[in-house]
Amino acid sequence: MTPDSQQLPTGTRVAIIMDGNGRWAQRRGVPITEGHREGGEALHRTTVAALDLGVSELTVYGFSTENFCRDPEEVAGIMSLFMELVEREAPIMVERDARMCFMGRRELLGDEIRERMRWAEELTAGGSSMTLCIAFGYGGRAEVVDAVRAAALEPGGVDAIDEEAIRRHLYRPELGDPDVIVRTAGEQRTSNFLIWQGAYSELVFSDTLWPDFGEGDLREVLREYAGRERRFGGRAETPPAVTS
Ligand code: IPE
Ligand code: IPE
Ligand code: MG
Repeated sequence: MTPDSQQLPTGTRVAIIMDGNGRWAQRRGVPITEGHREGGEALHRTTVAALDLGVSELTVYGFSTENFCRDPEEVAGIMSLFMELVEREAPIMVERDARMCFMGRRELLGDEIRERMRWAEELTAGGSSMTLCIAFGYGGRAEVVDAVRAAALEPGGVDAIDEEAIRRHLYRPELGDPDVIVRTAGEQRTSNFLIWQGAYSELVFSDTLWPDFGEGDLREVLREYAGRERRFGGRAETPPAVTS
């Protein structure tokens, strides 16, 4: 561990909107799928860095419910790269005692992908050092709709629904709210990511295109987060009055 990493916060829940694969490919004049492939490499690098830096939960946005409206060829390319990535990363997660899981509307995905997700979740279920959660076929609004529908089926019905009931029915109720949500590639919006969980997350925007992201960028995010003051609607901590 370098002296620098000792000063970074540990146990942080980090969420990342991995954006910029298309621009990365466009700037190099290569097919868009190459951008998504390099995006997969960046996810590997960033996951390893997160493990090394003591991040407790890393939730990444890989494919949104809205991304299905892209060109079918691009969508098919993303699906097959995703399957390869899951197969490659799951054993690495086992080696690092980490867990891998997914969030999203799985019924929108093909059987083969769903099977691979199930395999990776089972294989890594015992991991306790960090959780890597990949939001895939995920939409924050869809998640809230699904949670409310499920909560309404509980005893007491609609009248018994409160914030806790909705939280219990989110796709991954065992995960905490992200401390910080990062978006790469310079855009400053959340594009339907973790709209419930992100209510009080700190937002960090990075100009780095996702395929170029790595340990240095993650360190920068954690440094930025460490300097933020979180209030959750309360008052700022005031330093004790100095009496002379
Ligand atoms: C993010 O990169 C990956 C997905 C949304 C699947 P983009 O493909 O959105 O990259 P840009 O925004 O076009 O650069
Ligand atoms: C958000 O990026 C989704 C993912 C990173 C998976 P988009 O590229 O789809 O978002 P917009 O369209 O720029 O808002
Ligand atoms: Mg984009």
